[in-house]
Amino acid sequence: MRDFKIVHIEETDSTNRWMKENGEGKMVVVADYQTAGKGCGSNSWESERGKNLLLSILVHPQQLEAKNQFIVTQIVSVALCKTLEEYVSAPVEIKWPNDIYVGDKKICGVLIENKLQGCMIKDSIIGIGLNVNQQAFKSDAPNPVSIRQLTGRETDLKELLSVFLKHLENTAQSKTNPADYRNRMYRRQGLHPFRTKSICFNARIIGVNDDGRLMLQDENGVAHLYAFKEVVFVI
Ligand code: BTN
Repeated sequence: MRDFKIVHIEETDSTNRWMKENGEGKMVVVADYQTAGKGCGSNSWESERGKNLLLSILVHPQQLEAKNQFIVTQIVSVALCKTLEEYVSAPVEIKWPNDIYVGDKKICGVLIENKLQGCMIKDSIIGIGLNVNQQAFKSDAPNPVSIRQLTGRETDLKELLSVFLKHLENTAQSKTNPADYRNRMYRRQGLHPFRTKSICFNARIIGVNDDGRLMLQDENGVAHLYAFKEVVFVI
């Protein structure tokens, strides 16, 4: 990420929103605190002031069709795993589509917002909330965890950011991201419970399609494809 401009701000409502309004060229914005951090859907993102990594990255993918946008999710998720593996000893996994988990707990959330031009992606804002030094979580987020809670140690946020940006740069050049993503998937082995709007069922993960849909095989051997939000893990 050598030619990225890095901007540090003390407080904003949301780094993704800040980037939408102020971003230009290739840019990373990092905030100490968000007053209205956005999670996926209508969720908010909790983060104590100065304790965690809150950032948004503005990139301009070349020749990336909207139908292939899942590659951005794969790159970012794999780079986050590689980063966290340097800090925690337990396996770091990707809960489809892009939550980063340690055990059954969420250590990092990703919110990618794309701007399209026709069928191509013009700008992509990659928002990342990584729980680092926070010791207690107050919101009703179901299962948060931080590096501090896992290791008992404080982590230097600046150093962590630079480790992540290094991994992101390297991972973006890699040809093995779909396989690396697949090999790091949470609950990638065995039967596990899932829930759709109408039913709960046990299934095994077969993989993820190029368009990012999750492929599951139910107990009867029947394969199903699910888009984001159509199915959730029962944890
Ligand atoms: C999720 O719900 O899992 C996604 C959470 C994404 C949170 C990050 S924090 C930095 C960036 N700015 C935001 O407002 N949201 C993302």
